[in-house]
Amino acid sequence: MDLKNIDINKEIGAVGDVLNQEQKTKGLLIHAFQKLQSEMNYLPEEALKALGEKLNIPMSFVYSTASFYKQFYFNPRGKTIVKVCTGTACHVRGAGEVLSELKEEFGVEEGETTEDLSMTLETVGCVGCCGLAPVATINEDVIGEIDDERINEIIQSVKEA
Ligand code: FES
Repeated sequence: MDLKNIDINKEIGAVGDVLNQEQKTKGLLIHAFQKLQSEMNYLPEEALKALGEKLNIPMSFVYSTASFYKQFYFNPRGKTIVKVCTGTACHVRGAGEVLSELKEEFGVEEGETTEDLSMTLETVGCVGCCGLAPVATINEDVIGEIDDERINEIIQSVKEA
């Protein structure tokens, strides 16, 4: 067989079409997930069902696509997202204590959201500011050198948000 004369589009024909369609469908879904999540803060089950029905896409495909990406959430999240860095430098400099104090103050465990949806508490690996350890982020802001005073500031900012 002379490989130089193969028309790849003709050879893969329907397979190429199927792959392209699947890629297009995934792209459409991801865009819809991002829009839904920006409006609702997570992806409610009813919204995913409605999306699947509207686009005539099986729910198994909708869920498998959404769950593949860590950026999508299936449970309500808080207005403020607090992430305590538990990377090595932060761990050594007291991240565990920071996390414990926030858990106790808000009555949540790691990965949980307060009942009033004011805050979600999470942990994160190194955020690249090891020199400021221990570090946490509040939404997009980085808070470093966390001591008792800064913990109180974090608590206040969550309560005032
Ligand atoms: S380990 Fe926390 S910022 Fe690097």
